[in-house]
Amino acid sequence: MFDIIVKGGTLPDGTVADIGLRDGLIAAIGDLAGAGAGRVFDASGDLVSPPFVDPHFHMDATLSYGKPRVNASGTLLEGIALWGELKEIVTIEEMVARGLRYCDWAASTGLLAIRSHVDTCDDRLLGVQAMLELREQVKDYIDLQLVAFPQDGLYRDPTARANTLRALDMGVEVVGGIPHFERTMTDGAASVRDLCETAAERGLMIDLHCDETDDPASRHVETLAYEVTRLGLQGRAAGSHLTSMHSMDNYYVSKLLPLMAEAGLSAIPNPLINITIQGRHDTFPKRRGLTRVKEMQAHGITVGWGQDCVLDPWYPLGTADMLDVAFMGLHVAQMTHPDEMRRCFDMVTTENARILNLPDYGLHVGARGSLVVLDAGDPVEALRLRPARLCVISNGRIVSEAPRGDSRLSIPHRPATVRRRHDPGM
Ligand code: FE2
Repeated sequence: MFDIIVKGGTLPDGTVADIGLRDGLIAAIGDLAGAGAGRVFDASGDLVSPPFVDPHFHMDATLSYGKPRVNASGTLLEGIALWGELKEIVTIEEMVARGLRYCDWAASTGLLAIRSHVDTCDDRLLGVQAMLELREQVKDYIDLQLVAFPQDGLYRDPTARANTLRALDMGVEVVGGIPHFERTMTDGAASVRDLCETAAERGLMIDLHCDETDDPASRHVETLAYEVTRLGLQGRAAGSHLTSMHSMDNYYVSKLLPLMAEAGLSAIPNPLINITIQGRHDTFPKRRGLTRVKEMQAHGITVGWGQDCVLDPWYPLGTADMLDVAFMGLHVAQMTHPDEMRRCFDMVTTENARILNLPDYGLHVGARGSLVVLDAGDPVEALRLRPARLCVISNGRIVSEAPRGDSRLSIPHRPATVRRRHDPGM
């Protein structure tokens, strides 16, 4: 007897199977005909995936767009200044409320694990208090992993270092930083070393906003790879953004990529934001500002798409849907081969889970009973249509259901009787 059976779904690898969930875990995968369950969800013809994972977000700022004003220039630096104005007037209650609204929205899209950077440049640490409270309130249905992030610079802001360490003492579990925002390249490199040593001493993961600039001379990723190797942080370190790599000299990058691979350093590009924020100082040709995704993957580096922002000082849009993130990444990185499109789906599910070191993630017996049923036949169709999430299950409990689209179009590789999301392109 199972609590739930998800019947006849197609897994991302093309396998068709029933999935039985019991006591919050995946208890069986295979042919469960005849087995009893409290609820049977018919997923015949539908894609059944492990949950979406976002490895880079700013939960303390989300859903604040327009407060106290909009970002007129659209640049990273005005966004940071605008967030500074908002921090002066924000309250713990407001941040928790915005975060709860976002988490409910995320759950409805099947996004059940989020790594969020939380600003530590505030002597009251209101954002840290709010995000710890939020993490507790959503823990039954969303894994919220917090990064202590000195937004205004570990050294550039006079109390940031002490406050970042305080945040870690309070239970924030990942070390963050922003070396390209320090006053000098030297300070930036020193901050990378300092933060890596903190992560090593405390046995924590590290994820730095790194080289989020169009300046090809911003090479903090080199220092990050070096320190990660020196301190044995392989497999628990990530560089977020890495946009300067877009503009770097190719010869230098040919040396850098093997060093990143040797360090076991993961990369987290954020395509929605990088495509809109980078290149703002260019006339034409305008740089795209996305890091070198396919080249990293060719070197065996784990790369995961991140969302970064939804309706906040840096980005006026956003949907809490990792398929939208992957869709943009696929286009900007020109990952249009079928294998590359499949990889883009993996980048917002299994590969992001690896970056976050999520325990018991995936579709296998003994894994946590979390999955999402999509109104699509396979991962590529899911990317193309970004369809309804018919059922989202978190830790063995259905947390969201949605109706199918209103048309019944025939798709060549799917049964004609399967109801379709409205798709005028077919
Ligand atoms: Fe960010």
